[in-house]
Parts: sequence; structure tokens; C-alpha cells
Amino acid sequence: MSKRMIACLKEKQVDHYPFWFMRQAGRYLPEYRKIRESFPDFLSFCYTPDAATEVTLQPITRFDCDAAILFSDILVIPDALGQEVGFTPGHGPKLRPIETAAEITRLEEKRAEEFLQPVFQAVRQIRKSLAEEKALIGFAGAPWTVACYMIEGEGSKEFAKARQFAYREPIAFSQLIDCLVRVTTAYLSEQIKAGADVVQLFDSWAGLLPPDEFKRWVIEPTQQIVSQLKTLHPDIPVIGFARCAGMMLADYANSTDVDGLGIDTSMPLIKAREAAPKQALQGNLDPLLLATDKARIMTQTKRMMKDMKGTPYIVNLGHGIVPHTPIDHVQAFCDTVREIRG
Ligand code: CP3
Repeated sequence: MSKRMIACLKEKQVDHYPFWFMRQAGRYLPEYRKIRESFPDFLSFCYTPDAATEVTLQPITRFDCDAAILFSDILVIPDALGQEVGFTPGHGPKLRPIETAAEITRLEEKRAEEFLQPVFQAVRQIRKSLAEEKALIGFAGAPWTVACYMIEGEGSKEFAKARQFAYREPIAFSQLIDCLVRVTTAYLSEQIKAGADVVQLFDSWAGLLPPDEFKRWVIEPTQQIVSQLKTLHPDIPVIGFARCAGMMLADYANSTDVDGLGIDTSMPLIKAREAAPKQALQGNLDPLLLATDKARIMTQTKRMMKDMKGTPYIVNLGHGIVPHTPIDHVQAFCDTVREIRG
């Protein structure tokens, strides 16, 4: 059986409606929480191939989604570059923030690939255990979003320190972005060699940038990564998720040449389709609706599928599942998709 995800992304087949959920492996699942308890340190969990394999497969076993996404995190890249990264439960990531241009030159680019071997080992194991018709999604954070965390040192609503650093130190900042382009390209290429069928770039904080900066720090680096990946692996589709890109979505879609576009909750799917007629679209149910209102999940899912009828479309959320999401709501979402696609 062929993969619904690949038929949709590469062949642009319509009305296939593959589905998966951003952050589908996570704390809303009791079977995830159980394994998570045995790893006080989140990153050691990510670097243990058996554990990463097991939690990657959990949502497939439970919901029979069309794609598994590698269990890891976007912040393994700063960790691999030698920056101090930690996760405190309830507070999210904490990094020792980059404050000066000199610190960027001290990032240990050469050790990154070797350091990330456990991730590639997990990809090999997952691909082996996964049914052939399921796609395995590899992923990385896009350079802008990863740089945001590296400079800010933690999650933030505004990433004001990171944005100001980019204005104040454009040369150093572009060195950081260039470094992330190289490391991310190599990282995704290795995931593909290990068995990933498709890769997604998460640019969660793309929407914070004004148009010129969006072009420079979101579009250009993504374009470079996509074009190098296409040269190395012409058959592997790439999904770009530039969250809250808004009016810049058309430019992002045209300039980066991604095969699929993640759409956030704020964008009407029909408008996204007008802005990006060539790409498969993926999204965009509100994760908070998924957590709250079962009846509306069904009507909203039907509406998304109707709006995207006759075009290549992957059913998904507009951002990651939140930890308090009831499992039966996720189940209702899956049942609705299956009922409609037949
Ligand atoms: O989607 C999946 O199931 C695959 C795994 C995955 C994780 N993080 C696991 C994770 C993926 C694709 C990510 C991406 C990620 N990580 C992004 C981009 C997508 C987005 O949500 O915007 C970002 C910005 C991060 C950084 C990050 N990691 C934050 C801000 C946090 C803390 C917030 C939170 O949800 O706890 C993490 C931790 C993290 N990454 C968890 C998981 C399952 C929770 C950690 C735990 O179990 O204690």
C-alpha cells in the first residue's frame, strides 16, 4: 500500500486526506507520561533511541494516524552546538543565552553530527517498526526559531532580545543563521538517510518579523535548506510551517519551493489555498478547540475537509496538541476524518 502522505505531498493527489497531529507524542497520553517519568532529564529521553522509538509509535498504535513524527525536540541543535540547554518541568526550555557576537564564533559546529547519532539511530528503529503505508516525518526547527531560543534563552511571547540582537548585530546574527542553515541541512539529510520519508521545518516564531526581516531570516534560510535537500534527496518532500506568516505566506510558498505548507489557526484555509495554489496544505484546527468542545471538533473538521475538497490537503492542527487534551476528543477527530474520506 502506498503512503497517503507522500501521494498528497509529492503527487498532489486530492481527497486523500491523510491526518496526523503536531505534537502527537506527548503529555496528553498516559502511556507517554509513564515512560517520561523514568527520564528526569528531557534531553536524555530524546537521546535514548528505544524510548524515542516507543513514544513515536504510541499515537500510531492508538489512533492509526497516517504519519509518525520522530520524537525529539528542535532544541537538540543548540545542545549539539555546545550551548547549555535544559528543560525544567512546567517552565519549558532554559538555555544559557548568547549575548555577544564572539559567542557565536565559539559554537562547535563540527561536533554536531556525531553528537546527534542517537537521533538517527531512533529514526532507523522507527522506520523498521512502522507499517509501510505510514510515513515517518523527520523534523528540525527552522534557523530563525532556533536562533530565537539561543539568544532569548527561554520561551517568550515576543522574543524581544532575539529580535533586537538581529537589528543591532546583523553580521553576527547572519553568521548564526548561516551556521544553523548548514547544521540543519546536514541534520535533516541524515534523518532522511536513516529512513525519514518527509521532513518538516518548524518556524514557530516566523510571525514576529516585519516583511523585510521575514524575507531575510525566514524565507532565505528556508530556501537554502530546501534547495540543498532537494539536490541531495530529490524524492523527499519538505513541509514548511511558518507560523503566523499572514500576508507573507504567498511569498514564503513561492520562494522556498516547499512541497507542503503548515497553516496556523489564524489563517482561513481558503485564503491559504489562494495564496499557495501549488502546495499541499496542512492544518489548522485550533488545539484549544480540540481540548474543549467535542461537538465543534466534528463540525470544524468536516468544514476544513469540505473547504479543501479537490485540492491536496493534510488534516492537522494549527499548532501542537496541548497537554490537557482529552483523548476521546482526539479520537473523535480521527473518526470524523475516516468517516468522511471513506
Ligand atoms: O510532534 C511530536 O510529537 C514530536 C516531538 C516534538 C517535541 N517538540 C517534543 C516535546 C516536536 C516536533 C517538538 C517541536 C518543538 N519544540 C517546537 C516547534 C513546534 C511548536 O510547538 O511551536 C518548539 C518551539 C519546541 C521547543 C520546546 N520543547 C518547548 C517550548 C517546550 C516546552 C513546552 C512544552 O510543551 O512542554 C518543549 C518540550 C517538549 N518537546 C515536550 C515534548 C513532548 C514536553 C516535555 C515533557 O515531556 O516534559
